[in-house]
Amino acid sequence: MFSRRKLIGSTVMAASVLPSLGWGKAWAKGGVDFEPRGAIGKLERMPSLDLESRDDFNMSYRIFVNGELRKAAEKRAVEILKANGMDPTAEVPLKQAVALFESDPILATNMHGYVRGQQIMWSQIRDALYANGDALMAEMEAADNTGPGRLELNPRMDLPAYTKEEIHNQPGGYVGDEFAGHLYYYGTNNFWMGHNYQDEMHASLAKGTPIPADGKVKRILDVGCGDGRLTMALQDRFPDAEVWGIDVGGPMVRFSHMRANELGNKANYAQRLAEDTKFPDGHFDIVTSFLLFHEVSGAANKKIIAETARILRTGGVFYPGDIRAPYVARTGYRQFFNWWNTRWNYEVWMLEHQATNYEQVFTANGFSYAPSFKPRPGDSATVLGVKQA
Ligand SMILES: C[S@@+](CC[C@H](N)C(=O)[O-])C[C@H]1O[C@@H](n2cnc3c(N)ncnc32)[C@H](O)[C@@H]1O
Repeated sequence: MFSRRKLIGSTVMAASVLPSLGWGKAWAKGGVDFEPRGAIGKLERMPSLDLESRDDFNMSYRIFVNGELRKAAEKRAVEILKANGMDPTAEVPLKQAVALFESDPILATNMHGYVRGQQIMWSQIRDALYANGDALMAEMEAADNTGPGRLELNPRMDLPAYTKEEIHNQPGGYVGDEFAGHLYYYGTNNFWMGHNYQDEMHASLAKGTPIPADGKVKRILDVGCGDGRLTMALQDRFPDAEVWGIDVGGPMVRFSHMRANELGNKANYAQRLAEDTKFPDGHFDIVTSFLLFHEVSGAANKKIIAETARILRTGGVFYPGDIRAPYVARTGYRQFFNWWNTRWNYEVWMLEHQATNYEQVFTANGFSYAPSFKPRPGDSATVLGVKQA
């Protein structure tokens, strides 16, 4: 995890080996990539060692909060339920779960630590981005019209209200900060606790993406592409396919396009809505998304699934990475955790997402519905929908 800190090794890598692999190309040419500290493989370094060190500290703290402290909180929740004569594996109404756990110091420390650490992480990264704002903006502008991939921005797009939320406390959200893409990229590197510096997790998702039964994969769409990592990984896996990533956030697709081009990846990015993609009927063989549905209102989720059915061909595959099966029981602890996440971490749509019967929505829109792939051991399986004739 701390390989970023091996300064001499990484500088030599960035200057010599990586450009020959097509990585950090613009940086190596000089004058185009303004980020002063280059890249380690696919990881764009933070603007200063000081920030990188603070981010490492935040990440260690996050590992503790999500690891040992979370286990202690879960244990405590079981004790509280048992003390109240309740079965820890049974479903508990939300209000009752909140009333039982809210003032417990261990549970509260865990949740506060989780959210406060995240807030500090965002503000440190955002301050550093703005301190380098002119250079970073110039770099992004210079990349807008470069290839191999295309970029389409739509600054006049009507943004649905739900897309303007500052989900997971990200300042400005995905549409309200011109560096939202940068911020999400560095912030989620922290979220993934060191496991995605080289886009490994997205590569694993792309590898696990099922293909249509007839084996034909000419066009792929990644919806809610964010910083574009799954889109790029899909392009890597299917080099001959036309791959698009779309996102409501202009800054998100702008950053994605810049990064993909810098890494020599030809994926295309467009600022479009998942519920109104503007692509023709039956156009795609595969539609993916990752971490989209839990951040979208229940009503919009249904529209997105209907739109996905429209743009997929018969036999085409719909693979949304955050719709999971089997159904996770609403135990007391789970309810409390999700309530906290919604209320204080601004995961505004999490409870609506969890209450949605996706099997019903899939089948109502002409998809089959089946568990598919476990991204990590112990995870619940992702869900696969195949468009029926
Ligand atoms: C949690 S991020 C996931 C990004 C990326 N897929 C990843 O793996 O990290 C959710 C993304 O969905 C986008 N989004 C939310 N609602 C959308 C909509 N209606 N249409 C297109 N994109 C949307 C957000 O702007 C954000 O970039």
